[in-house]
Amino acid sequence: MSMLAALQKNRMIPEIYKQMSREALEERVREVKNKLGSKLFIPGHHYQKDEVIQFADATGDSLKLAQISAENKEAEFIVFCGVHFMAETADILTRDEQKVILPDMRAGCSMADMADEQQTDRAWEKLTEIFGETILPLTYINSTAAIKSFVGENGGAIVTSSNAHTMLKWAFNQKERILFLPDQHLGRNTAVDLGIDLDEMAVWNPITNNLEFDGDDVSKVKIILWKGHCSVHMGFTVQNVIDTRSQFPDRKIIVHPECRHEVVKLADMAGSTSYIIKTIENAEPGSSWAIGTEMNLVNRIIQTNSDKNIVSLNPHMCSCMTMNRIDLPHLVWSLDTLEDNSNHNLIKVDAETAENAKLALERMLANS
Ligand code: 13P
Ligand code: SF4
Repeated sequence: MSMLAALQKNRMIPEIYKQMSREALEERVREVKNKLGSKLFIPGHHYQKDEVIQFADATGDSLKLAQISAENKEAEFIVFCGVHFMAETADILTRDEQKVILPDMRAGCSMADMADEQQTDRAWEKLTEIFGETILPLTYINSTAAIKSFVGENGGAIVTSSNAHTMLKWAFNQKERILFLPDQHLGRNTAVDLGIDLDEMAVWNPITNNLEFDGDDVSKVKIILWKGHCSVHMGFTVQNVIDTRSQFPDRKIIVHPECRHEVVKLADMAGSTSYIIKTIENAEPGSSWAIGTEMNLVNRIIQTNSDKNIVSLNPHMCSCMTMNRIDLPHLVWSLDTLEDNSNHNLIKVDAETAENAKLALERMLANS
């Protein structure tokens, strides 16, 4: 067997886990958790499936998961139920001896993959030619460790959907212009909230290596938005808002700021996953809501708020496919390999990348 084939085989879940009953899988998770106690920590993002989230020691949005990773000094194994960039963030923020494991290495994020190191270097070179030393980079936490490292090295910081306003204000106190990676929508929605006009925004296209700007005076540009997006949140459209408003005029619309600006502008409220959860929890019994975010979370909110009338803003929306890669069989498989020193599905960011990425993360944590 070639080295590559052996590696790939190692990363494929053994058939036996797929044949186990749900009861047997759940029992096995309980057994390992009881045995390892505080040596094991399982954080879970709000978009994870119910079958997985039931075993999470802590659940949260991206900011909370980064904060609890930074605080946890005790666990030897952190089995991260989320996507790859979240596990990388946990590895950067924890001690060297702590092992971060992602139950399925295929759990990536298509948005994070929309900005790579080479594209970012090319963009930085061209943008500094146009704007000189006036730009500070900020990156959404939904980005690879390499992009976080680039941002840290250039004085910038990380942003999540729950601290984007604070961090963008912070950034404008450092420099005149911001390069916002990789989600143009979170960048645009946040900048509009801070009073920046749409005609003061340009878009960096990493495929054509070009600045897209309609205006006549490029010196007016205050924020350069990387042309990236979340394919899940792009599924919510202006037509969905129009349909909801016409059929159910009393229904409040709440969306995630990864939705395009036209949708956020028409919605009643926008915010992170934690903001959405809290808003609905605190809403009047009997109130009606349409939610624009990922379906595992929307379904959970519907179940836990049976006194309210809640639907998805897009009736045909589905879950985030990569978040869904983490299922009960993968969780059990990764727990079973914890103590055999196989370093199976271990997430390890190299020391050089981690150093600058940590700087960028710490600038965010200090301001959150
Ligand atoms: P938050 O939980 O931080 O709102 O993030 C949403 C998201 O898309 C994570 O991938
Ligand atoms: Fe990435 Fe969007 Fe999935 Fe979040 S919901 S992990 S941003 S693809």
